[in-house]
Amino acid sequence: MDKLAIEGGASLAGEIVISGAKNAALPILCAALLTGGTMTFSNLPRLRDVATLLKLLAQMGVCVTPESGEERQAALDASGLNNPCAPYDLVKTMRASILVLGPLLARCGEAKVSLPGGCAIGARPVDQHIKGLQAMGAEIAVEQGYIHARAGRLKGARICTDMVTVTGTENLIMAASLAEGETIIENAAREPEVVDLANCLVSMGARISGAGTDVIRIQGVKKLRGATYAIMPDRIETGTYLCAAAATGGKVRLLKTSAASLDSVIDKLMDAGCDIRFARDAISLQAPARLKSISLRTAPYPAFPTDMQAQFMAINCVADGVATIRETIFENRFMHVAELQRLGADIQIEGNNAIVRGVASLQGATVMATDLRASASLVVAALVAQGETLIDRIYHLDRGYEDMAEKLSALGAKVRRI
Ligand code: EPZ
Repeated sequence: MDKLAIEGGASLAGEIVISGAKNAALPILCAALLTGGTMTFSNLPRLRDVATLLKLLAQMGVCVTPESGEERQAALDASGLNNPCAPYDLVKTMRASILVLGPLLARCGEAKVSLPGGCAIGARPVDQHIKGLQAMGAEIAVEQGYIHARAGRLKGARICTDMVTVTGTENLIMAASLAEGETIIENAAREPEVVDLANCLVSMGARISGAGTDVIRIQGVKKLRGATYAIMPDRIETGTYLCAAAATGGKVRLLKTSAASLDSVIDKLMDAGCDIRFARDAISLQAPARLKSISLRTAPYPAFPTDMQAQFMAINCVADGVATIRETIFENRFMHVAELQRLGADIQIEGNNAIVRGVASLQGATVMATDLRASASLVVAALVAQGETLIDRIYHLDRGYEDMAEKLSALGAKVRRI
């Protein structure tokens, strides 16, 4: 099992290119199931999750070029789609496989998708996905760990999800694109990745309005055509490197990214004392010698993203003052706290609040990654800790960060992959 060895103390400096967004690429690749035309994608991130999804789509009968799924470009031809099934052995490694459910139902009228199961950060139920598809006329049974779904042509419906759900909204938008009549999704997720999916579907001929707001209207069409689409930049990867630079008193420039979808994160970094400048598709950050502690509360977009919570906890560990971090989206997203405490962090958990008291410095130790963003927070902490930190189980990182060791090394970090 690979490990990362990080020698702390270097201030990050220089520039790197940000990759395509994982959480936009995953739903958008599933949208290829909706058409018999060829979809050509660019700016795909080279990530384990993307490779896993391309393998899943290929075993359904989608022709994926190149087969490796390791390139930034891919062509997907779902005209030969003949196996609307997502088996447990693939779904258990990548929960976002649930995103094939809506498209398969809309295109084939049937789907057999393994329940994704929980993960380190929470139970991750998919009841809202199922409720919305049933409202559109699908018959769905959950048996032996699988979702068995059948439908004639789906019918447009008015759906209000019980809570804001990103992939739930995405599944329903994709299903509604080929349904008969109008679907209105209320309490819809407003994340930029939802907007990116909607933009891709529109380029395929879908009729969607309101993406990015909490009410999305979709007029179903009979068929969708193939199209060419470039994935948006990854705002969470961007935020992660901004945090790494902020924690190490660095000065970095991130290219091929946009500040447009990161306002809440950038506001917090500015409050912490960072000087941040924007160009058309670049963000520069100059950090102060020592950050001010910054409290935050996660919530659905445009509020502070839960996927940046762990990284901000890391920078608060070495900031000046006391910060309160409240996690409102997932019930167990403090797995990084125990590992950060091994590095000398002073953190108290009270329910879904974490009280972080900045300390003078952290000390390197051996720690273990538990989930994708927790791993990122351990990397940020290791970069600023004294001495060497060994991070185990970094396959979690490979799922969501393209070439992280190389990108950090390019910024002057002392990182070795073992
Ligand atoms: C997406 O997960 C992201 N994943 C997550 O990123 C992100 O943390 C999350 O949205 C919140 O922003 C992808 O886009 C692939 P939700 P998703 O449905 O869609 C509850 C990362 O690190 N809920 O918005 O699974 C759920 O339990 C990953 O890249 C139900 O109860 O999250 C959670 O408490 C981690 N029933 C809340 O809603 C449902 O049917 C929000 O979940 C659906 C969700």
